[in-house]
Amino acid sequence: MINYKDLGLVNSRTLFTRAITGGYAIPAFNFNNMEQMQAIISACVETKSPVILQVSSGARKYANQTLLRFMAQGAVAYAKELGFAVPVVLHLDHGDTFELCKSCIEYGFSSVMIDGSHHDYVKNVELTAQVVEYAHRYDVTVEGELGVLAGIEDEVVAEHHTYTQPEEVEDFVKKTGVDSLAISIGTSHGAFKFKPGQKPEIRLDILAEIERRIPGFPIVLHGASSVPQDIVAEINRYGGQLKDSIGIPEAQLRAAAKSAVCKINIDSDGRLAMTAAIRKVFAEQPAEFDPRKYLGPARDKLKALYIHKIKEVLGSDGKAV
Ligand code: G3H
Ligand code: 13P
Ligand code: ZN
Repeated sequence: MINYKDLGLVNSRTLFTRAITGGYAIPAFNFNNMEQMQAIISACVETKSPVILQVSSGARKYANQTLLRFMAQGAVAYAKELGFAVPVVLHLDHGDTFELCKSCIEYGFSSVMIDGSHHDYVKNVELTAQVVEYAHRYDVTVEGELGVLAGIEDEVVAEHHTYTQPEEVEDFVKKTGVDSLAISIGTSHGAFKFKPGQKPEIRLDILAEIERRIPGFPIVLHGASSVPQDIVAEINRYGGQLKDSIGIPEAQLRAAAKSAVCKINIDSDGRLAMTAAIRKVFAEQPAEFDPRKYLGPARDKLKALYIHKIKEVLGSDGKAV
């Protein structure tokens, strides 16, 4: 058993309390490799923002759970070396079984998500409560989910949103003991959220109703990438073939962050930024074959994107203490 506290990591509890009171959200950025981790940490140090490093099941398969955990431990030391020890949470994204959550807790994760949203309500409550009971023994925080987002989530695809029903949240939170709740109010996973011409609209009315029923309780937004049009255009200019798509407008996310939303998940926008930078190098310098010459610019572009998100969307700059 490795306790996350020995690794210099923190759970999400205090960060969320401060975020709700302060009207901002903590960035939850997915990482699978060293360049992503460096971009996240250097952006957070530069802006003095707390951060949640997220690991999905796909990331575990790709990069190995042990390596990712050592990287998160390294991230804590890296932040200090860069000049500011920002609080770092190591979080399991979309855990789907008790066993997976348990394994991550035993490996040094400080926070886990148990995503029972594809089960019926009773099973979701039962599974989430089981994870909470185990996690809280080690002071690990737990995120649950109610409602189903449209789009791709690991290997699960949902055609349509099933919005979170505000009538269920109080009962769910009480019965499970979760520390935070991911809700479905119109965001969706992946880079292809809405077709051009459609009007993305986060259901801030549902969020307000949820907040009314569980005041002060930390709410999480998944699928919060905005699919920056300049980055998509850059990818396609340099040989990419991404179909037209739009994401969640940043102003709507900012509005959500000012309320009970205190964790916002962003993955796809980072993938797009890295891809644009790498394609540019390949197109302009086709003789280049040193990975550092294309992963370096990808890391720089990713860092700039994260700084923008922190300052303009999440409002978490200057909140690391
Ligand atoms: O919600 C999904 C995250 O973007 C992680 O994606 O499962 O492809 O690593 P992944
Ligand atoms: P995006 O695909 O919109 O970046 O969402 C990521 C996410 O919710 C990770 O859990
Ligand atoms: Zn998600």
